[in-house]
Amino acid sequence: MTHRIASIPGDGIGVDVTIETRRVLDAAADKYGFSLEWTEFDWSCERYAKTGAMMPEDGVEQLSGFDGILLGAVGFPGVADHVSLWGLLIPLRRAFQQYVNLRPVRLLPGTSSVLAGRKADELEMVIVRENSEGEYSEIGGRHNAGRPDEFVLQESVFTRVGVERIIRYAFELARTRSQHVTSATKSNGLIHSMPYWDEIFAEVAGQYPDVRAEQCHVDALAARMVQAPDRLDVVVASNLFGDILSDLAAAITGGLGMAPSGNINPSGEFPSMFEAVHGSAPDIAGQGIANPVAQILAAAMLLEHLGETVAAQAIRASVDEVLTAGETLTPDLGGTATTTALGTAVAASLR
Ligand code: NAD
Ligand code: IPM
Ligand code: MN
Repeated sequence: MTHRIASIPGDGIGVDVTIETRRVLDAAADKYGFSLEWTEFDWSCERYAKTGAMMPEDGVEQLSGFDGILLGAVGFPGVADHVSLWGLLIPLRRAFQQYVNLRPVRLLPGTSSVLAGRKADELEMVIVRENSEGEYSEIGGRHNAGRPDEFVLQESVFTRVGVERIIRYAFELARTRSQHVTSATKSNGLIHSMPYWDEIFAEVAGQYPDVRAEQCHVDALAARMVQAPDRLDVVVASNLFGDILSDLAAAITGGLGMAPSGNINPSGEFPSMFEAVHGSAPDIAGQGIANPVAQILAAAMLLEHLGETVAAQAIRASVDEVLTAGETLTPDLGGTATTTALGTAVAASLR
């Protein structure tokens, strides 16, 4: 079986961690008897500087035939973040209707989380983040520019279809787990969008009487995620809330270097795209010290998506093994190992 994968390393540490991830994926392919046909794309801020665009005009078309996409990270000083991200990552998520952003959260062994002392199985949840609308919208603008009464408008878009499908996805997922969904809301402060979100949440919850449904204001949920994470399992959230909660969840499970993410097109009509939760980390880019684990775990999600379940599980086990051994840890984990050393150790453990 051959899987055709598009790789977009992107910017900053996205490049470093993607090299290591390919090393691990190729080792998995060798061992588990499938092959990966890679095509690499140089779409990035560097490309923007040369050509004025993050990706070619037909970029979406070029990617549409692949079985999956592995994305490093996008964004680098010199190109404004809203230009780079709305020039590559966000349009791909939307064009390929990757409306689910699935962000599994698991306390990894051997890491010094702020919640250290808890057992790994006490902290295991998944964030189901809406990935195609919500607070991330192009509707709005700057008015009275340059005048004392200057103002900007940034609209949110919550459609019935968009809200209902992400909430339904969370309930279906909960049925395969511990039958518990928590919805992140903020219907006390936001007068239109979140009451609507809550209304649809209640409607869908009514169709899943076997699943325990609760809602929690996102501010309180943030506190709860730190103080009582064992009382959460599937967390469903809008685009912005899910974004913020997922960095928090990463922080309590070992850091941003450990948290994977999948942009999923559930219908299978378009390719899904896998990446770490973290960004391009310009502060450590080019130093060879980025932790590749998040991207390697994202690649495990990619393999699972392609049906290579055994290989995906083996990659997770290898990561656990290397972290537990504690000999090859990058600086964010308290060690002195390089990105390459950690990637090589995971690949070696897999073999
Ligand atoms: P970031 O996630 O890149 O970095 C935040 C902090 O975490 C930094 O101190 C960084 O060094 C550290 N960190 C992140 N990943 C790490 C890793 N693998 N190993 C060790 N340390 C790691 O967030 P930011 O600084 O807000 O954003 C930097 C750029 O990345 C911006 O341009 C932003 O827009 C972009 N970004 C892109 C994506 C994406 O492409 N998916 C995601 C988030 C941010
Ligand atoms: C993420 C990132 C992106 C997001 C940014 C870079 C647009 O933070 O994937 O979590 O908010 O979706
Ligand atoms: Mn984010």
